[in-house]
Amino acid sequence: MASDVPFLVAEADGGDVVGYAIAHAAADEGEILNLGVAAAHRRCGVGRQLVRAMMAALAARGVRVVYLEVRESNVAARGLYDRLGFRVQGRRSRYYRHPVEDAILLRAAISAETGDA
Ligand SMILES: CC(C)(COP(=O)(O)OP(=O)(O)OC[C@H]1O[C@@H](n2cnc3c(N)ncnc32)[C@H](O)[C@@H]1OP(=O)(O)O)[C@@H](O)C(=O)NCCC(=O)NCCS
Repeated sequence: MASDVPFLVAEADGGDVVGYAIAHAAADEGEILNLGVAAAHRRCGVGRQLVRAMMAALAARGVRVVYLEVRESNVAARGLYDRLGFRVQGRRSRYYRHPVEDAILLRAAISAETGDA
């Protein structure tokens, strides 16, 4: 937060933090570095809201294209990003450890007008 990276948290009604997203922005490119929603709060739209808000925050910084990596087997994250307009751009072989697994590289362009993918 001190270095002004795009960092969002999602709060439930009582103020509990139930999710977060962290990104990186450089010139017109952004990368979503991490995204997580507490297990008890999944499938309620929190992840979708976080990614949409992050895309808008990145757009406000001049970002026009966003990348991220996701484990090949991560059905939930891949479903979420697909619904939000991310498309497969490539694969990084054996990118992850514990367990070893390929990363799928995803990409989405951001509309300058709306901040949406
Ligand atoms: C991936 C994650 C952030 C999704 O958060 P979420 O708040 O549950 O997601 P949402 O409720 O906003 O779901 C939005 C869409 O994503 C897809 N989706 C989410 N979870 C899914 C699952 N378990 N299986 C299939 N599709 C899923 C669906 O298309 C869903 O839309 P729908 O509910 O209308 O069908 C959450 O599962 C998580 O924290 N996982 C562990 C950490 C992680 O994998 N982070 C991503 C690293 S790249």
